[in-house]
Amino acid sequence: MQTADAPESGEAKPLTPYDLIGGEEAVRRLADRFYDIMNEEEAAAGIRRMHAQDLGQIKERLFEFMSGWLGGPQDYFQRADRPCIRSAHRPYAIGATERDQWLMCMSRAMVETDVPEPVRKLLDQAFLRMADMLRSS
Ligand code: HEM
Repeated sequence: MQTADAPESGEAKPLTPYDLIGGEEAVRRLADRFYDIMNEEEAAAGIRRMHAQDLGQIKERLFEFMSGWLGGPQDYFQRADRPCIRSAHRPYAIGATERDQWLMCMSRAMVETDVPEPVRKLLDQAFLRMADMLRSS
């Protein structure tokens, strides 16, 4: 397994998906691009309508969520006011169509922000499992 240096402890730490994707800047770029694509892409109009007009706050939330989920800073999961990801989606009617629109935006966003191909393939699978788990029908 690849490792990163941990100078203080002298021990090597395994690289996380967060490291492999390129850390904070890369995850922020991905979250921003994802919602920009959702905003512009006619094929994603169905899920765009479910979201607030201003996408600023949700970009920040997705950035924080993905940072923790990919093994980076865990701020999102430590905040008392953050719902679990399942309950955050319970108010919305999410079926296969909505899932596929979401995944199409994420897949494009990963390509357009230069996520390395091996990482992209892994994340495509992981996003598919998560998006499918959020379906209500
Ligand atoms: C399956 C299709 C999905 C649809 C249709 C969908 C839709 C939504 C909607 C409508 C919201 C509320 C937005 C707002 O408040 O303006 C939301 C919130 C959110 N979604 Fe999704 N979502 C999907 C999948 C996912 C996936 C796979 C992830 C993570 C990888 C995710 C991460 C989030 C996060 C972090 C929030 C904010 C929750 C909070 O802290 O309040 N969503 N989503």
